[in-house]
Amino acid sequence: MWPFSLDDARAAFEGWAADVERGGRLVLAAFADGDLVGTVQVVLALPPNQPHRAEIAKLLVHRAARGRGIARLLMERAEAEAQAEGRTLLVLDAVTGGAAAGLYAQLGWTTVGVIPSYALYPDGRPCDTTVFWKAI
Ligand SMILES: CC(C)(COP(=O)(O)OP(=O)(O)OC[C@H]1O[C@@H](n2cnc3c(N)ncnc32)[C@H](O)[C@@H]1OP(=O)(O)O)[C@@H](O)C(=O)NCCC(=O)NCCS
Repeated sequence: MWPFSLDDARAAFEGWAADVERGGRLVLAAFADGDLVGTVQVVLALPPNQPHRAEIAKLLVHRAARGRGIARLLMERAEAEAQAEGRTLLVLDAVTGGAAAGLYAQLGWTTVGVIPSYALYPDGRPCDTTVFWKAI
């Protein structure tokens, strides 16, 4: 949510780093010419009755690096890493009608449906969310 400072971002990633150390999450990073240009996460810490499942979260590509296939590569690698962890079912959610929704459809994800006003845009307006799944 706005305002979102560098310290806010650092705190968020430090929290996720602690989860990585506990084995609850993978954080993948994409580099182009040595620069960090994108990231995505695979959430592994799920309830005991869902050991075969993982969630994909926080797909982000730097504004200056968009439109070069980096998100696609990150998603393909996230799937491969989830598979390597023994996961066979993936779930994610995305802003309805947003840039990422087209990518997920292209990559073979199935739409479950739309939840109205599930989240908020950074400026506080309500935001519809589409839930997707993919068997891998
Ligand atoms: C969504 C996002 C990750 C895409 O990253 P990217 O590296 O530019 O995406 P890619 O170049 O790999 O594009 C792959 C596909 O995504 C879709 N896509 C990407 N940007 C798009 C846009 N602005 N509008 C519509 N579709 C878009 C297209 O289907 C594209 O395939 P194509 O090039 O064959 O048409 C990036 O715009 C981003 O970080 N946005 C802000 C954060 C966000 O919305 N994250 C998703 C959370 S669910």
